[in-house]
Amino acid sequence: MSNNLVIVANRLPVDRVAQADGTPGWRVSPGGLVTAIEPVMRANDGVWIGWPGGTETDLQPFEHDGMSLVPMTMTQEDIQGFYEGFSNGTLWPLYHDLVAKPEFHREWWDSYVAVNHRFAEKAAELAAEGATVWVHDYQLQLVPQMLRELRPDLRIGFYLHIPFPPAELFQQLPWRRQLLEGLLGADLVGFQLPGAAQNFVRLVRQRVGHKTHRDLVYLPDGRTVQAAAFPISIDAAGFEELARSESVGKRATEIREALGNPRKVFLGIDRLDYTKGIYARLRAFSELIADGHLDVEDAVFVQVAVPSREQVEQYRILRDDIDRLVGRINGDLGRIGRPAISYLHSSYPREEMAALYRMADILAVTPYRDGMNLVAKEYVACKYDNEGALVLSEFAGAADELRQAWLVNPYDINGMKSAMLEAYQADEREITRRMKAMRKTVTQNDVAAWADSFMSELSDVPSSHGKAVRPAKRS
Ligand code: F6P
Repeated sequence: MSNNLVIVANRLPVDRVAQADGTPGWRVSPGGLVTAIEPVMRANDGVWIGWPGGTETDLQPFEHDGMSLVPMTMTQEDIQGFYEGFSNGTLWPLYHDLVAKPEFHREWWDSYVAVNHRFAEKAAELAAEGATVWVHDYQLQLVPQMLRELRPDLRIGFYLHIPFPPAELFQQLPWRRQLLEGLLGADLVGFQLPGAAQNFVRLVRQRVGHKTHRDLVYLPDGRTVQAAAFPISIDAAGFEELARSESVGKRATEIREALGNPRKVFLGIDRLDYTKGIYARLRAFSELIADGHLDVEDAVFVQVAVPSREQVEQYRILRDDIDRLVGRINGDLGRIGRPAISYLHSSYPREEMAALYRMADILAVTPYRDGMNLVAKEYVACKYDNEGALVLSEFAGAADELRQAWLVNPYDINGMKSAMLEAYQADEREITRRMKAMRKTVTQNDVAAWADSFMSELSDVPSSHGKAVRPAKRS
């Protein structure tokens, strides 16, 4: 029990991979969260608790790349009830504007409570006296309160990576009060956008009955909880360096050649998720071809769909829908060697992503609702020559910062078509002007700045609990 910082997230920051000799090993996940948190972990003897995926039972705590990792095991029932069920069948659609219909099942809730409790117990066991615990995301919203009951000496932060819905939607949840109380176990509750923090404070006032003032909640025991926005970001310098590298440059040229060197390449990169608006975006593009505004000799759409939550029914349906749509579009509009859409159902390492960003002329990010959308920021970070247009949904958190994108309402297909065409036809000066401004935003507000601002706010919360964490030493 010597850890001054404990990170609690549903996932560990590593993935299971087969090593060269065939034995199983670990590789750091491509996401930016680990890049941001690793330096703070090092400076504070940190440990990361999370699920490595799968149902392996004999996993022991281990070190990887200097990080202490503690794997949590899940049974098949936990995966079905907690992960696929309550987290991704109830909360995910509810928190994303009901883009799909959330299901409410009491057994899923019981499983969510039980798994949250196991995570809280593990954090309580590993945290040093007065340590800081940082809990992440919608899968673990009960952990702050459970942990506070076990260890009142701790300083607890919580960060929600996805949107927090307006009261009108959240109220549907049969366990709304328990979830709010779960979050109130934290000293600081962080959100992507100020509106989400306001939704939370309003709900706490209405549903739990606590006194609130601006971003503070006053609890009857004298404790205060702060709710605030900390828009997450990416390792901007790391992406730019990768994009500038010779090997990525070479790969970018290869990809364009393989596509037949069209005049312009549109790109979409998303987890295959119904919140991302992939279907409507591809339809909009195909209509631009069908209407004669674009020609398949000049323009192609590369859509990467990263496999995700494949056991959940809504995701299977989506995959079939997209497969059918792409087949129909290419069948109707493609020519030999010139499909309108180049569709890839796969995940790629950071290097390949950087090459895709570098070679693309227009990135289309059109979710119906998205907490932030880091793909948009990664693309901007990779466009070191200021060339490249971004078509971005108003309903992605990133739209609050990337105001110079071509902003679209993803429900408005005609509006999307106009924006995509404008981005396609825009002259170089206009593209450069917009990209320059967005690059300034992304490079100045990277993921390290995000982690630092959350940690320093957590240290400042007027809490009677826990010591402050030491900031990371950054080069
Ligand atoms: O950002 C939301 C999120 O659910 C993360 O918590 C998660 O790591 C990522 O999307 C991928 O989803 P999953 O962990 O369900 O594969």
